[in-house]
Amino acid sequence: MVARAYTVAFQGVEARPVEVQCAVSPGLPAFSIVGLPDKAVSEARDRVRSALAAMAIALPSKRITINLSPADLPKEGSHFDLPIALALLAALEIVPREAAEQTVALGELSLDGSLVPVAGALPAAMTAAADDRTLLCPKASSAEAAWVGAAQVIGAESLGAALRHYTGQCPLEPASPGEVDLSPCPRDLRDVKGQERAKRALEIAAAGRHHLILIGTPGSGKSMLAARIPGILPPLTPTEALETSMIQSLCGLLSEGGISRTRPFREPHHTASMAAIVGGGKGAKPGEISLAHNGVLFMDEFPEFPRTVLETLRQPIETGEVMVARANAHVKYPCRFMLVAAANPCKCGYLPDPARACSRAPGCGEDYLGRISGPLMDRFDLRLEVPPVDFTDLDLPASGDGSTTVAARVAAAREIQATRFRSTEGLRQNADAEGRVLEEIATPDAEGKALLLKAADRFGLSARAYHRILRVARTIADLDGSEDVHKPHVAEALSFRISARVAA
Ligand SMILES: Nc1ncnc2c1ncn2[C@@H]1O[C@H](COP(=O)(O)OP(=O)(O)OP(=O)(O)O)[C@@H](O)[C@H]1O
Ligand SMILES: [Mg+2]
Repeated sequence: MVARAYTVAFQGVEARPVEVQCAVSPGLPAFSIVGLPDKAVSEARDRVRSALAAMAIALPSKRITINLSPADLPKEGSHFDLPIALALLAALEIVPREAAEQTVALGELSLDGSLVPVAGALPAAMTAAADDRTLLCPKASSAEAAWVGAAQVIGAESLGAALRHYTGQCPLEPASPGEVDLSPCPRDLRDVKGQERAKRALEIAAAGRHHLILIGTPGSGKSMLAARIPGILPPLTPTEALETSMIQSLCGLLSEGGISRTRPFREPHHTASMAAIVGGGKGAKPGEISLAHNGVLFMDEFPEFPRTVLETLRQPIETGEVMVARANAHVKYPCRFMLVAAANPCKCGYLPDPARACSRAPGCGEDYLGRISGPLMDRFDLRLEVPPVDFTDLDLPASGDGSTTVAARVAAAREIQATRFRSTEGLRQNADAEGRVLEEIATPDAEGKALLLKAADRFGLSARAYHRILRVARTIADLDGSEDVHKPHVAEALSFRISARVAA
């Protein structure tokens, strides 16, 4: 008779259920695994055999066949060890078959039978909850899985502990969720002297999740400003925290099972590969843009990124999800991030500085910023020139509002947006609004409209630019606590869009 246990195969953030069937039949002794296993899954055979030997369980001299169903779904990773061992123990009638059938298991086995933590316990727990089964996983992965309240999660130190649980010798307690981490950002906006306009741009961008590019001479404080964005963003909502943690769980980044309420802030280096940024490579893992889901993707020295990488960002920025292609499937990951880019105006960096005039002006700047294509530049809602800070300003005491005050204003504006979009599926911030919804919420009053039309005509704005200005104007009105979008809101939004350095 065939014994069954369950596990999952990962396709993007989705954990697809996999049935692990085990048949022990008469014949020449053999142990085979079928159902599109990759190398790591095939090697499970040796780990399972050794772990059972460590528990003094000898395999019978029979033909053991493991089938991973559905057979056409590729199975990758080492987490198949535990469900294979469980199905085998059920087939040998050491573990009750009904108990194994009620279990979704994932975990890697050491040769001595101890369980090694694996990535993806959180999405696996979601699947277990949906199928009304218990999740059995390594103890070190159980705290993150327990966040899915609907699922019962059992964390075991070793295969022996799991066996004693199933035979009733020593039942294990259901795992409880790990700590919620809300680490405060140690950097404060007040550290940045002057640069009031840049700080205002950060506030607007954070409030409406607008994409922002900072262009300025070396040492003007661009990286310094960007590093202060986490300090003004509100904590993740419970739904957002779960979404972000699912991606982190797939990458094995959840430390001690603690789910973080701090918004992700990812800053990939410009030498990072396409797979590292967009996702892909072996196992089609999520890239930096997905790890920045619900948070910030900061790309410092933006024009230095390879052109192919920059152009690939265009589609995910618009849709909020990325399709990672692999040999036999397409995997989809969410990536609703706020893009913050920093760039020098030209290769030497001093194009706009009259004191150190760039020797190759203006061609130098055109060549350098020209690496950012028009359509990509068009996707930045706020474009800002960051002038070098005056030495006299550096000597002055800190001015302007600190991160806590700005964060409170940003949180209030985000609250207004949450209420506005409560009944609209898929919309969270003003940056997500499109078409009819955008018209409804952001159409300015007559004066504002007249100004916008005049600017569109004068600067030849694209349709996308027009809509992006409307979204920013809506956010500025939200920060202002204003129900309607008025002319000053449109004017400020326009001022951040139309910059001397880049075409509107
Ligand atoms: N407005 C400012 N207030 C206080 N310190 C500043 C300011 N601007 C720059 N600095 C100082 O200059 C240093 C360099 O700033 P930062 O690294 O942010 O420059 P950048 O614009 O990113 O330069 P680059 O284009 O070379 O990357 C900061 O670490 C800080 O010490
Ligand atoms: Mg910098």
